[in-house]
Amino acid sequence: MIHDIERILISEEALHEKVQELGRQISEDYRGRRLLLVSILKGSVIFMADLMRAITVPCEIDFMAVSSYGDGVKTSGEVQIKKDLDRKIENYDLLIVEDILDSGKTLSYLMKVLAARNPSSIRICTLLDKPDRREATDVAAHYSGFQIPDAFVVGYGLDYAEKYRNLPYVGILKPSVYEK
Ligand code: IMP
Ligand code: MG
Repeated sequence: MIHDIERILISEEALHEKVQELGRQISEDYRGRRLLLVSILKGSVIFMADLMRAITVPCEIDFMAVSSYGDGVKTSGEVQIKKDLDRKIENYDLLIVEDILDSGKTLSYLMKVLAARNPSSIRICTLLDKPDRREATDVAAHYSGFQIPDAFVVGYGLDYAEKYRNLPYVGILKPSVYEK
């Protein structure tokens, strides 16, 4: 598995520090609110698990699964909800927890769907952001861990064809892996 990694982009230590920092900021901002963390499966599970433990104010969690990629490295632009939330979200302050903001199409679609259900507020927290690749102009992350260059990355939850999610760091995948 590690032979498929060109180089480590974000180390375990850097990830840990950043997640603590995001947790501190979110805890300050959501004091006294009714926070619901919505993790977008599956890429954000590791980030979610670490982030929620860095949050010191009460919060609830829920999960959604969407697909737009298949096994490719570029978005098809078509978003499909595969698993919806378990509850009504009126009166909740929603924080969408995402692994990476790339073209932005997934979150642009999700924001519209969720905003239509009238939560008290709705924001995005993304671990990674590739601003150079943005196509959807109506989406921005309120909390963002790292801006990264336009390279396909895996690890810390992120996959290529469902693999590499268990790497403890974020690494750049060798193009030879997906150009085969
Ligand atoms: P968007 O709709 O183009 O913003 O795509 C967001 C989704 O694409 C993410 O939640 C990831 O699942 C996937 N994705 C985008 N870039 C990468 C990457 O570099 N590595 C792994 N998955 C990625
Ligand atoms: Mg994925």
